Parts: sequence; structure tokens; C-alpha cells
Amino acid sequence: MSNHKKMKPDTITVHAGRDPQRFDGMVNTPVFRGSTVLFPDVKAYQGRNPDDYKIMRYGIYGTPTTFALEEAVAQLEGGYAAVALPSGLAAIVAALAAFAQSGAHILIADSVYQPTRNFCDKRLRTLGVEIEYYDPLIGAAIAGLIRPNTTAVFCEAPGSHTFEMQDIPAIVAAAHAKGVAVLADTTWGTPYFFRAFEHGVDISIHAGTKYISGHSDVMMGIIVTNEQHWLNVRRAVADYGYCVSPDDCYLALRGLRTIGVRMRQQQQSAIRIARWLQARPEVLRVLYPALEDDPGYAIWKRDFSGAASLFGVVLKPASDPAVAALIDSLQLFGIGSSWGGFESLAIRAYPEKYRTATKWNPGGALLRLHIGLEDPEDLLADLEQGFAQMRKAA
Ligand SMILES: Cc1ncc(COP(=O)(O)O)c(C=O)c1O
Repeated sequence: MSNHKKMKPDTITVHAGRDPQRFDGMVNTPVFRGSTVLFPDVKAYQGRNPDDYKIMRYGIYGTPTTFALEEAVAQLEGGYAAVALPSGLAAIVAALAAFAQSGAHILIADSVYQPTRNFCDKRLRTLGVEIEYYDPLIGAAIAGLIRPNTTAVFCEAPGSHTFEMQDIPAIVAAAHAKGVAVLADTTWGTPYFFRAFEHGVDISIHAGTKYISGHSDVMMGIIVTNEQHWLNVRRAVADYGYCVSPDDCYLALRGLRTIGVRMRQQQQSAIRIARWLQARPEVLRVLYPALEDDPGYAIWKRDFSGAASLFGVVLKPASDPAVAALIDSLQLFGIGSSWGGFESLAIRAYPEKYRTATKWNPGGALLRLHIGLEDPEDLLADLEQGFAQMRKAA
């Protein structure tokens, strides 16, 4: 397949990263295990190009299974190339490290995934990198924060737990006017619902652990870049020695094949459940850019072709035991980290505890719900009985 660029996302997810003629007719690229790669002679061994990351050289740089996953994700998102890493957090770490020379200034959205903030505060700051958190709703005014030593602006849209939608094109325009790269954690949008490069993002970072793998059985990170930033980022990944097991690449690629049907179904259920929650007397507000009355709706509608099934629910003031009774009584929602799998999840979140550039005071306890592939009627019935338990415990 050579002209994936002209194809629709569902066709790309089926055909990209596959070459049956190369693998004895097999529909799927098989799992290639290996560390050492043998060369025919001294000339071939010594002639390896260290900047060619798409040829077989040594296991750490990938195998045909790794390359198949990387190629498929890059094509789906419309980027130049991709590299797989052992977790979403590893992808964030390596991408930031590529811009984090001592003395550099990096701007980070105040709403980022908390471990991103942890890495910046605990690791990058001690290496002499200046980290500055900015209001995620800043938009074009980010221009005022860019300094001569600013190397990168890091975005996440919508923000972790708080779901504020960032105006990425406005941030990109301001950053590029000053020659600064824009990195974005695009895990929520996925390469299926958010085409980061069409909006000017230079480096798109995915926790492939979520919807790309989609089955809660793989840890995976994927960085996709434009051509300009590819070698800087790919070399950083190599310098840190990151690589991914071919079995995990195989599973992630298998997940990617069905991302469209899963995400469309999960989105439909999530919107239905979010609207039902909005009408509940126990709920103050629902944080979900896919809802018309969400402050981020206009930007989401403009920039995304769909919504992940992850959103926040702010409850009206209730005691901690009452909130715990609601979550504990749910039968179909698991209590656990991560999201993007086939199953529903519910956790309580406390983003107000770690924000520094902005205050976040939702007015009640915050739940984060992930809606899976269960029948939404059953999920609604489960939530209904959960609210009854919450009232009892109040
Ligand atoms: C927005 C976001 N980015 C990155 C990550 C990190 O992914 P991983 O768990 O694969 O390290 C997560 C994990 O929850 C996340 O929610």
C-alpha cells in the first residue's frame, strides 16, 4: 500500500503495517524475536547508517514487528515516522529529554498527566532545565511566556482529570513564530480521532497502553514526529536505550486494527452516560468536551473527529465515605489506573492537589469514569444503584 495518505482512517488501520507477500502470505506481520542481527560481510556490518532506524541492525532498534506497528501508527496519524517505547510515560520522558539540555526553558500545561509533572520537577529541574507551568487555557497568549532559551511547549488536550481543552493550533502558531517546538500528549485523542500534524503539532506522544492496544494487557508508548524533529527524538530514544518487546508490538498492532469500531462504540456509550449523569441530582457537572455545554466543546468540535470515552464527574458536596460507597458499590466499573481498554473503570481524582500555575476548585468530589464496551443500559443501572448506596452512606 503506497497511498495511505489519501485513505480514510478505517482503511489505514486495516492495511497499514502489513505486507503479506514478505511473510509467506501471513495476514499479520509475525512476531520477530531477536537481539543479534547477522551481516553477510565486514563491509555490510561497518556500513550501517546509525541514523537509519528502519533497517535491521540490532534488536534494540526494533524488528519487523516493531517497524510494522510504528509504520501503522505514523500513517494513521499522518506523521513522518514513529518509535515505540515501553510505556506512555517512557514516551513522554524521551520526547521531553530531546529538548531538555541544561539551561533550556520548557513550558508545560498545568493540566498534564501527573507523572509528566513529576518527571519535570524531580528529574529535569535537577539537570538544570527551567520548567514553567502555564494555564492550559492560555491559547495564543503563550507567546508572552516564550523566552530566548525556550525549547519546547508541552500540551495535553484535554487535560488529565480536569478535561480542559487546549487551543493547540493557537499555541502552535505562537510557538512556531518563535521557532519553538510543540509536543503534545495526544493519548485521549488517539491517532484515530486527532490528527495532530494537521494542527501543527511537531511531536505527538501516545500512551499506546490505552486505546491503541485497547485490551488492558499491554504497556506501550509511541512517539510520532514530523520530519524536522524525527532524528533528534529518535536519537534520544536510542541514547536512553529504550526498546519494546516484539510480543507487545504485535498485541498493540492487533489492537490498532479495531481502534475505529471500539472508539466509536465507546464514544456513543460515553456521551449517553455523560448526559444521563448531567441530569442526576447528585452531580454538579460533567467534564467532557464532547458535550455541547462543555467550555471546551467548540475547540473539540473544530479539531477532533471524535471523543475518547474518558470524562470527569464532579459530585455535589458529599462526605468522603459517601463518595467511596458509590465507587465501591459499582459492579461493572473496576477501580484501577489506566483507561482505553474494553472495560469500564471508576476512580476518584484530586488534580487540585498538584496544580501550581492555576487553581482548580471544582466544588465537589471528582470522579473519573472510563466507559468500556459493556451495554450502556447495564452501566446506567449500575450507576443508579451506586447513587442509591451513596445516599444510604450519607
Ligand atoms: C494522559 C496520559 N498520558 C500518559 C499516560 C502514561 O501511560 P502509561 O501508563 O503507558 O505509562 C497516561 C496513563 O494513565 C495518561 O493518562
